[in-house]
Amino acid sequence: MCGIVGYIGDRQAAPILLDSLSKLEYRGYDSAGIAIRNAEEDVQVLKAKGRLNILAEKTDGGKAVTGTIGIGHTRWATHGEPSENNAHPHTADDRTVVGVHNGIIENYQKLKEKLTKRGYSFYSQTDTEAAVKLVDYYYRKYNCGPKDAISKAMVRIRGSYALVLMFNDYPDEIWVARKDSPMIIGTIKNETFIASDVPAILKYTRNVYYIDNLELARLTAGKAEFYNLDGDITDKELTEITWDAEAAEKGGFEHFMMKEIYEQPKAVGDTLNSMLTDGKIDFGKIGLSDDIIKNISQIYIVACGSAWHAGMVSQYVIEELSGTPVRVELASEFRYRKPILDRNGLVVVISQSGETADSLAALREAKEKGIRTLAVVNVVGSSIAREADNVFYTLAGPEISVATTKAYSAQLIAGYCLALQLGFSKGVLGEPEYMRMIAELQALPDKIEKILQDKERLQWFASKISNKKDVFFVGRGIDYAVSLEGSLKMKEISYVHSEAYAAGELKHGTISLIEDGTPVIGILTQGGLYEKTVSNMAECKARGAYLCGVTTYGNYETEETADFVTYVPKADEHFIGSLAVIPLQLLGYYLSVSRGLDVDKPRNLAKSVTVE
Ligand code: M6R
Repeated sequence: MCGIVGYIGDRQAAPILLDSLSKLEYRGYDSAGIAIRNAEEDVQVLKAKGRLNILAEKTDGGKAVTGTIGIGHTRWATHGEPSENNAHPHTADDRTVVGVHNGIIENYQKLKEKLTKRGYSFYSQTDTEAAVKLVDYYYRKYNCGPKDAISKAMVRIRGSYALVLMFNDYPDEIWVARKDSPMIIGTIKNETFIASDVPAILKYTRNVYYIDNLELARLTAGKAEFYNLDGDITDKELTEITWDAEAAEKGGFEHFMMKEIYEQPKAVGDTLNSMLTDGKIDFGKIGLSDDIIKNISQIYIVACGSAWHAGMVSQYVIEELSGTPVRVELASEFRYRKPILDRNGLVVVISQSGETADSLAALREAKEKGIRTLAVVNVVGSSIAREADNVFYTLAGPEISVATTKAYSAQLIAGYCLALQLGFSKGVLGEPEYMRMIAELQALPDKIEKILQDKERLQWFASKISNKKDVFFVGRGIDYAVSLEGSLKMKEISYVHSEAYAAGELKHGTISLIEDGTPVIGILTQGGLYEKTVSNMAECKARGAYLCGVTTYGNYETEETADFVTYVPKADEHFIGSLAVIPLQLLGYYLSVSRGLDVDKPRNLAKSVTVE
């Protein structure tokens, strides 16, 4: 949530900040703001409600405001409505301190009360204003430098923050502090960049520092110095980002989502290949030897949103292929429900961003209980990746669209690899079967390509249902797990209400919502369950539903029941979710386009949910 950026160097800061913010708009787009200064002049703060382009127009693309040091922000509102007043940067009364923030200050009301008693007044409803004024308060009270003022504030603040601050008296410096919210610092020659996420600065530098929790840093042109809360310098290594800068651009596609849908064969292939050694899956590469794998008694998959859906698919596959019991938990529930965990179990936290607050908290909960943790993460160096015992990196590359597609597909591969390796190490799968299944996985990228070639039919179907108010997705087993993802894809970007149901469950209540013409989309890829789901679809049709079937080539009799059928290539049924989900992603995309919506930036959402 919220994108933060900063720049200090010898170029004009405003255009760079606006450019970097444009790469972070997926994190929030309620309002935007920048604060710019020159060594000799006072800071200038410019804000605008709404999308970043409004701020860009207001500042003539940044040209209207001069200065080589600056900070910027795009907001996803948590405290206070989207407005210019609540937009960041926020300032202390005489602009001694100016700051932007991502995260949530939980005790901001208490801090506000304390500061009000000491003569501070507040102009916004944000928690950030309280944080900035708290730093200002300590700065004046102790007549100390930024380092001590920020450290003292960090001790008082409860919650999460990536905080970027400028002090009027220190014109050549930017200060940053972090707890539980993402932030990276990039340097090159005599320039330093700050961002919530890699794509914002990829164009400028690939050399980044990851600031740790409860650390702060003093940034000058081309340099970064890190401190712990005691004020001691901490050593930090520069990491090179290997992502390709073009991967974070639209590359000729109208939307990032479509580009990312097209990148799925590569994401799937790259992720799989990264885990193979001599044709076999090799978890030893990530520190999980066969001995460790063999002794895993139970898998707990913890995640949010689509990552949780990838966990749901994995549950079926892992249990079937390895006989290992799997529980899939929503991270937001797991963290508060005092789960009973087997000491020989493995907690698998799945997260594209590696920064989702609930997933991170769940990971910490598991670690506290002494259970081994495996992170399945896309963003290198993210909090979840750094804190987990072992990390399986999905190689999907930067994912910009709020609606995940390629990261979800890569997460499925991680689940399949785990299933196969558990099955093989435990002797549930013999070598020929294990090798056959790896070959099945290797065939997935080409099959996904094939589905993408047939996308126009889905465009037609999307236009046909574009004025409907409810859509239902049904399936059984893996098909049900895939339905969950298809339904989320549709509702989050098209704003059409949709629900996914285990096909047999519909008649226990929800079928009363079926009216004349209500679309019901049945996923039919599991041979043993095909007839059962078709019967459930027929029950809906009898009540007026307009049926769509997603099935494999060869199941042409589906056309006898469904009004529209789309086909995917045949594959091993354990892995066919990777194919069935593609038409559902396309459907969500085309429905959003046909309704004239902003596909990549759906209302009320942010790509990375770094607050509870
Ligand atoms: O970064 P994460 O994978 O932890 O994010 C989890 C969810 O917020 C995410 O999958 C969300 O549901 C997507 N918008 C779905 O498209």
